[in-house]
Amino acid sequence: MLSSSSPFVYSLILFLSLFFLLLFAPQILPFKKHQQQELEQNRQKPQSLITPQDELEDLHLFHQAVLSASPASSKISHLGTVNPKPKIAFLFLTNSDLVFAPLWQRFFQGNDHLFNIYVHADPFVKLSAPEWSVKANFIPAKRTARGSPTLISAARRLLANAILDDPFNLYFALISQHCIPLHSFNHIYTSFLGDPSSSSKAFLTQKSQKSFIEITSDSPHLHNRYVARGEGSLLPEIPFKQFRVGSQFFVLAKRHALLVLKERKLWRKFRLPCFDLDSCYPEEHYFPTFLSMKDPKGCSHYTLTRVNWTDSVDGHPHTYHAPEVSSDLLHTLRKSNSTYSYFFARKFSPDCLKPLMAIADDVIFRD
Ligand SMILES: *[C@@H]1O[C@H](CO)[C@@H](O)[C@H](O)[C@H]1NC(C)=O
Ligand SMILES: *[C@@H]1O[C@H](CO)[C@@H](O)[C@H](O)[C@H]1NC(C)=O
Repeated sequence: MLSSSSPFVYSLILFLSLFFLLLFAPQILPFKKHQQQELEQNRQKPQSLITPQDELEDLHLFHQAVLSASPASSKISHLGTVNPKPKIAFLFLTNSDLVFAPLWQRFFQGNDHLFNIYVHADPFVKLSAPEWSVKANFIPAKRTARGSPTLISAARRLLANAILDDPFNLYFALISQHCIPLHSFNHIYTSFLGDPSSSSKAFLTQKSQKSFIEITSDSPHLHNRYVARGEGSLLPEIPFKQFRVGSQFFVLAKRHALLVLKERKLWRKFRLPCFDLDSCYPEEHYFPTFLSMKDPKGCSHYTLTRVNWTDSVDGHPHTYHAPEVSSDLLHTLRKSNSTYSYFFARKFSPDCLKPLMAIADDVIFRD
């Protein structure tokens, strides 16, 4: 019986298969095509390196810092008897070894109680301990990457930790591992905060303290940078005519550091990943754009960190190597067209440490 019915069964199965194939094929095929398109889009869609968890932790940290500095909880008012001095917080943002630590150590030497050091070291890179004996606070760090808003987050984390750690930090200098000082500590300190030996408490009223940050709209690629996240992506918060560029490394007065930590509106835009990675330098835009909107008169509009953009390649400035280091170079790098000469310079390659140490006392720290 089975043998006689099997041709019929086979025909039936064949018929049903064809029937279902024809019935569902129009749905299966477009679905596959749709999936394909989605995959394609995801491949092009830039991914954010900042997780919601990171975002929450940062928000909490910034909030704590702002609270700690509010007049009601300010620790300064409770320290009447001692005579503490205002300090400069040096914020090292790095993703490689601090090879210039010995030079910085000599810079800091003899100035305890006038500075604090904070380091944000990319946890995805294994660093060796810096060769200095000064006390440095390695703050809880998160991944950083070029061309992403992670560099804004890292700078804000440094500001927040420094504010929380010591209420006497009144100036905040952002430094990279490739930066060197161009003057003595005393020269730089006095320029920001006045003579450290005077007992004036004028510093406690921070109202007029100025920030030193480059703010300009004079850049040939400004529009590309404005639309790096897509046409209109920064609107309505940031019209193109208010969009600014400036150098990544700045010195902020405390009142501006606090404004930056309170800021949420522009951050929501600047944290978006870029489509155009060649024009993506969020950290060079977020701080200058925000401060130029908030307090243009309170900012220098020029930077104190000298950088050489001649023949720059792929957004990287000229990197100095050992044979270029000389007292002439150091003197040239200090020269500026602003009220102050340059205080810091970048970028220096690790092989410069030796020749820089050799001329440190006679050239760099002699003002
Ligand atoms: C800037 O870098 C260029 C090479 O890219 C070099 O020729 C020039 O001397 C540098 N300028 C200064 C002031 O160091
Ligand atoms: C100062 O200004 C002059 C003239 O505009 C310019 O040639 C020079 O490069 C400037 N120097 C610095 C250090 O920016």
